[in-house]
Amino acid sequence: MGEYEDIWELYGLNNDPFFTEPLSLFGGVDIRVGFVGREEEVRRLQVLISGSGGGRILVTGNVGVGKTTFVNFVRASAPPKQFFTPLKEIQTQPEWTGTDFILNTLAAIHNTIKLRSDLDSEQISQDVWKKLELLVDIVERKDRNFSLDVLAVGVGYGTNTTINVPTPTINSLHLFFEQLVAEIQKMGFRQVILSYNNLEIIEQKDLTKLFNSIRDFIQTKNTKFILIGGGTVSETINSIPRVQSIMSESPISLQNLSLSQVKELLDKRMRYLSISGLVPKKPYKDDAISALYSLYDGNLRFILNAMSTSIKEIVRDIPLVVTADDIKQILPEVAKSRWINKLTPQEQEVLMYILHNGEVNNKKIATDLKKLKQNISPITKKLKDLSAIRSRVDGTEKFFTVESDIKWFLLENER
Ligand SMILES: Nc1ncnc2c1ncn2[C@@H]1O[C@H](COP(=O)(O)OP(=O)(O)O)[C@@H](O)[C@H]1O
Ligand SMILES: [Mg+2]
Repeated sequence: MGEYEDIWELYGLNNDPFFTEPLSLFGGVDIRVGFVGREEEVRRLQVLISGSGGGRILVTGNVGVGKTTFVNFVRASAPPKQFFTPLKEIQTQPEWTGTDFILNTLAAIHNTIKLRSDLDSEQISQDVWKKLELLVDIVERKDRNFSLDVLAVGVGYGTNTTINVPTPTINSLHLFFEQLVAEIQKMGFRQVILSYNNLEIIEQKDLTKLFNSIRDFIQTKNTKFILIGGGTVSETINSIPRVQSIMSESPISLQNLSLSQVKELLDKRMRYLSISGLVPKKPYKDDAISALYSLYDGNLRFILNAMSTSIKEIVRDIPLVVTADDIKQILPEVAKSRWINKLTPQEQEVLMYILHNGEVNNKKIATDLKKLKQNISPITKKLKDLSAIRSRVDGTEKFFTVESDIKWFLLENER
């Protein structure tokens, strides 16, 4: 970190233009201004959303490619008086059951009604609103033993009444959700759009269970379910015929933006983040972006993160302009200082081997480095614990690749 409090100010910018968070419907860079490309995919999702009835679709693509931002853009482009959509995408969690899935959906809707100044809970049936508040309370407490049978019992009790009855069943929650959608329609909306982030963080067998249990829920009328997930989520769905058969369409699979689109989105960020009254100074030469684009095969999040690191690393109180040559000097140095003293020579050797050989398992590492497999497994375990490498499980085999920062070492050879 520089000594200067806010290095971006030196460039006439309000904020780090290389932020890696997704663009969202509210706050930060206006998604309607900052979004680039994906015209065809946007149209596909818009067509699905504007159709009457329900709908379900999967959006896939590698981590950091722009899935969350894409879905947020389409949600933001839907006329806000006709389409009800939560302010934030719903973050799925690895341990979620079908009940959690619905309860968290309800919580997102509840929060949106409360936060949006143009909406008022008075506009919907007070019976439904009260039940909603009680259910959201369950989510917030994260306490499954304590619960109220708010769905079976009618109204007429205060929020302090505890009744010894089990957690609401998935069927009762589904029925309640249908009631809530009907109430949202009474407010004047045509449709509800829901998006669920990061389904790939759920293990395959748990995801299968989850899909089986929410199969009916995601068929709720007048509601569009957008499921976001990279990796093997698509395979998991395809392996459950009764779930695969209810998907409205084949997945939308997102590819990397082109190099010129990446440059364009940075130009847009620069303009958007400029301090009013100042002409911002661009902190980089375009060749820096090109160098990182080829290092990461176009992965946006990794490019942004590397740019941010490079600039923070060298800029103190003069707004330097970072070039490709600078990047190739700075990032390998940062990588060395972050990793080398944490690792023994053997661990370094294994890490460099994985860096240069792509996806490999312990057996292949051992063979190629002429070592015993039982000596390699503790090393890959440590490298994984340190977040230097990640693993993918295929059957009973584990395959390793380096984390994105480790690729900074590769830039050294390009000088
Ligand atoms: N089409 C786009 N236009 C502008 N910025 C984008 C676009 N797609 C992604 N980004 C930016 O790239 C980064 C990664 O995008 P994100 O949506 O979080 O990816 P994912 O959800 O696939 O991991 C974020 O900083 C986001 O703002
Ligand atoms: Mg995402």
